[in-house]
Amino acid sequence: MQGQLATVFGASGFIGRNIVRELAARGVRVNAVCRDAEQAKFLKPMGAVGQVTPMRADVTDPAAVARAVAGADMVINLVGILYQSGRNTFDAVQATAPGTIAKAAADAGVRALVHVSAIGADADSRSAYARSKAAGEAAVRAAFPAATVLRPSIVFGANDSFFNRFAAMAQVMPFLPLIGGGANKFQPVYVDDVADAAIAALQRPEAAGKTYELGGPSTYTFRQLLELMLVEIRRRRPLVTVPFWLASLQAAVLELLPVPPLTRDQIELLKRDNVVAPGASTLADLGVDPTPLEIVLPTYLDAFRLGGRYAGGRAHA
Ligand SMILES: NC(=O)c1ccc[n+]([C@@H]2O[C@H](COP(=O)([O-])OP(=O)(O)OC[C@H]3O[C@@H](n4cnc5c(N)ncnc54)[C@H](OP(=O)(O)O)[C@@H]3O)[C@@H](O)[C@H]2O)c1
Repeated sequence: MQGQLATVFGASGFIGRNIVRELAARGVRVNAVCRDAEQAKFLKPMGAVGQVTPMRADVTDPAAVARAVAGADMVINLVGILYQSGRNTFDAVQATAPGTIAKAAADAGVRALVHVSAIGADADSRSAYARSKAAGEAAVRAAFPAATVLRPSIVFGANDSFFNRFAAMAQVMPFLPLIGGGANKFQPVYVDDVADAAIAALQRPEAAGKTYELGGPSTYTFRQLLELMLVEIRRRRPLVTVPFWLASLQAAVLELLPVPPLTRDQIELLKRDNVVAPGASTLADLGVDPTPLEIVLPTYLDAFRLGGRYAGGRAHA
């Protein structure tokens, strides 16, 4: 990979920044693409001078996508959204843009394309998010049949949205809401393992044209994940079941906020388990040994502890 050029769409995001770091460590030159190149400047010190180039391109603009991909040996697409905002709709960003990127990659003679989708991508889902992920995968396969599709379960690590969000809620709320009772299952996967999987997919010929479902070594119910988080931040908060119908009513109001903390579409996703399907190709098939959640959680949730990070108690390396 040394000296090759990779274009990473969604480079400034939670998973993207970890992939840029891993590519840079392997001597790869990186076009780090998002809509605000200024915001992506923090990625530059991950490589040598000039190795990581923040680049502005909206994936809904085919000409900008083609410019970002020109000359690249490898392309990774990580652009995804949890809620729709203005022109950034599920249809534009997750259904159509992956095909635009895949076509631009094929036209530019790119060697390898990795497309990051999500477990639960399903053309027949009740969730528009999940339907758009399925449409995106199909568009990628049609334009670039040798692409590798990675479908993670929820991804954890410093700056994740799941654990950080609920830990922040536990700091200020007397209870935590357990939407639908919290019996649905997740298989959280460490962000570094997702980055390693993406790098492996770029390098291994046998990954071409395949889909991998990425999950950690264990599955947990939603309730168990909140309980683990509360133990880690050393706070006691009752978990209060909010029935799906009531959560949907609340989400209908919350959707009016510029950055909605919950949407009705997300509630649809919570009605299904989010775990690796039996028989699916997994991290192990990409040579990645999944990291347990319990090892990593203490390294970044301690800031939410009562009294702060240095409040005492268990020491962490
Ligand atoms: N995190 C998880 O738990 C998880 C689980 C399963 C699947 N995934 C998938 O993994 C991928 C990466 O997730 P993430 O958590 O890293 O997401 P993230 O932190 O929200 O990052 C999204 C990235 O996409 C960029 N972006 C958004 N709209 C864009 C547009 N129109 N044009 C160009 N860039 C745009 C954002 O930068 P700007 O806003 O500055 O443009 C940002 O760099 C997504 O496809 C997501 O669906 C994530």
